Amino acid sequence: MKHQALTQSLISTEEEVTPVVLAAMERTTDPRLKVLMASAVRHLHGFIRETRPTEEEFEAAMRWIAALGHHTDTSNNEVVLAADVLGASTLIDLINNNGMQGETLSALLGPFYRGQAPACANGDCIARSDTPGSTLYFRGKVTETDGTPIAGAKLDVWQASPVGLYENQDTGQEDFNLRGVLHTDADGRFNFTSVKPAGYPVPTDGPVGDLLRAQLRNPMRPAHIHFIVSAPGHKTLITQIFSDSQEALLGDVVFGAKRQIVGDFVQHDQPDAAYPDATLPFFTCEYDFKLVPGVSTYPIPPITGKTS
Ligand code: BEZ
Ligand code: FE
Repeated sequence: MKHQALTQSLISTEEEVTPVVLAAMERTTDPRLKVLMASAVRHLHGFIRETRPTEEEFEAAMRWIAALGHHTDTSNNEVVLAADVLGASTLIDLINNNGMQGETLSALLGPFYRGQAPACANGDCIARSDTPGSTLYFRGKVTETDGTPIAGAKLDVWQASPVGLYENQDTGQEDFNLRGVLHTDADGRFNFTSVKPAGYPVPTDGPVGDLLRAQLRNPMRPAHIHFIVSAPGHKTLITQIFSDSQEALLGDVVFGAKRQIVGDFVQHDQPDAAYPDATLPFFTCEYDFKLVPGVSTYPIPPITGKTS
């Protein structure tokens, strides 16, 4: 790559820093990268001018950012977790998915989507190891916003176990426990069996935990099940269906809970002929997902494996 001769001026005052840095990035060839980085530098410098950190504070901040990397591996993504607890992921989500066309509201992907989950048939149970908790029968439809069924839509499902850990965090759970991929039938219907999810704390053993403790924040997420719903010619929906109290929804440490994606989890205390094998009490939930036309994309998993 050929660089032009250096023409930038030497900096001698605080005021000169921002324009000189912006000028140095002026020749960025990708126009979007140029806009993003110029704005990032202006806001970063603005933040520094507003808060005037000491050198010790700056070094502590650099150590915290480096620790995000040190706590990130194939089974944990501390960088995604940091974006989540700072509200950045939910802000990005709402900017890009506002639900204004009648589609199901989205919610953040989170750091625990692994990809490559085992294929399931409708009716299969996604609990692959002995998992405590009440049985949950989840069913629904995938449709266009006008109710037209979408046959062959893919649902990528994952959830934490009732002890509050995803299988990637827990050597006691089978590989891919409570994860599965299923497809809708000709009428756009799907169903699977699982266990009723429980709320859980986000990981607090890394730098994000240090920050939450310093801010006296509760690390809990309300109980939910994650879904990626996709179909050719439709905008991919990444969402979560919540099953928890109003108090837990309002206390979501990553600001992901929304009223429209709270599921109706019904507790059954009496036998029901439609569920002959069910142990009491069991739960049912029916939720229909609505997709809008668009480009079918797929997220890159923030993690790929299980803790060893
Ligand atoms: C999750 O729902 O899996 C999640 C989201 C954000 C942070 C931690 C976990
Ligand atoms: Fe989750």
